[in-house]
Amino acid sequence: MRWTYFIVLQFIFILVIAGIVYKHKDKAVIIKTPPTDLAQWYKPENKRQVWLHNMFKLRREMQAVQFYAETKDKEHLRKWALALNEHYLKIGEMVSSWNKKLDISTLSSLQANVDNQDYTGVLAAVKTLQKSCDSCHSDYQAITALTYRAPDFSTLEIEPLVPFNSHMEKLSKQVNQIKIASEDGMSDLAISSLVDLKKDMSKLGQVCSDCHKKDKVSYPSEQMNNTLLSLENSLKTGTLKEQGMDLGTLAVQACARCHGTHRLAFGTKVLLSKDSSLTDLLKH
Ligand code: HEC
Ligand code: HEC
Ligand code: HEC
Repeated sequence: MRWTYFIVLQFIFILVIAGIVYKHKDKAVIIKTPPTDLAQWYKPENKRQVWLHNMFKLRREMQAVQFYAETKDKEHLRKWALALNEHYLKIGEMVSSWNKKLDISTLSSLQANVDNQDYTGVLAAVKTLQKSCDSCHSDYQAITALTYRAPDFSTLEIEPLVPFNSHMEKLSKQVNQIKIASEDGMSDLAISSLVDLKKDMSKLGQVCSDCHKKDKVSYPSEQMNNTLLSLENSLKTGTLKEQGMDLGTLAVQACARCHGTHRLAFGTKVLLSKDSSLTDLLKH
């Protein structure tokens, strides 16, 4: 009798847990995070993006193996299959915990088919091997790129002791001050805020070259300078509508475009690297 109580109680307990998890499934996402061993194959721990380059080789080798199997070119097929073998195995050498994700038996049968000049067999093996590529990618590709390759703004300073983030808030205040003053007919204040904004945009522009070394990014760009000029004129003599249009254009050119690249990627990177504590998880 006691045992049945116990089992029924356990059953109810499991049901309640399952219910709670199900109820919250739309409020939290579970993402698999890549092994930290990967860091050594990326900048700054490594001089080169070794992991990524191994991947580019694999894609090229898969294509070449397929091509030479289709054209039944024994010599070239052998060369590329050997390279594919090496770089596929390198995945497990670089990150040992990913060894178990590799489809070694398909890799061996691919090699055997190459040796036996069984071209149909080679093509079938390539297709199967591709599934092992796809399965790892669907879990880890995007998060790895974000974790190790999205530019990091967390330690950037505009000038000593002025973190990037504080400078952003300042720019945002200036943009809004222009808007408020324009709406309320305080054109002197609007213009002096615009002067401040221009100065602080130039300051921001000086940090682009920290990372953009070869591809010279000029900020403010010529296009932005034209908009700044037009905004200055409309603040002096234009209508409220013209002022609003110029300010809107400036916000897109000078803020939103960069946010589309950098803030989006950096924000996601930060979100993903946030350690969620057990209490956080339980709260969800
Ligand atoms: C065990 C995991 C794993 C396996 C297996 C794997 N990859 Fe990858 N691959 C990754 C990760 C992680 C990335 C993301 C790297 C990055 O963007 O920095 C990636 C990225 C790539 C990219 C770059 C994509 C792009 O355009 O930016 C290519 C190409 C690629 N892999 C090809 C392959 C091929 C071909 C295979 C199979 C022969 C394969 N990979 C097997 C983990 C794997
Ligand atoms: C922390 C490093 C870093 C800083 C600082 C930085 N960038 Fe970038 N930016 C990159 C990298 C790396 C890319 C290449 C794309 C990627 O991987 O996100 C890029 C890409 C871009 C792109 C999109 C692609 C292109 O080349 O058109 C724009 C636009 C851009 N940056 C603008 C800026 C501006 C403007 C500044 C300065 C206000 C700036 N970035 C500062 C690292 C940086
Ligand atoms: C380098 C490209 C870049 C440009 C150009 C840029 N931003 Fe940003 N902005 C960022 C990044 C990256 C973040 C996220 C910083 C962080 O979270 O630490 C950000 C964050 C912000 C934030 C949020 C700050 C906070 O407290 O979290 C505001 C507000 C902002 N930007 C306003 C602006 C305005 C206004 C402009 C145009 C005048 C502008 N930004 C131009 C990259 C840029």
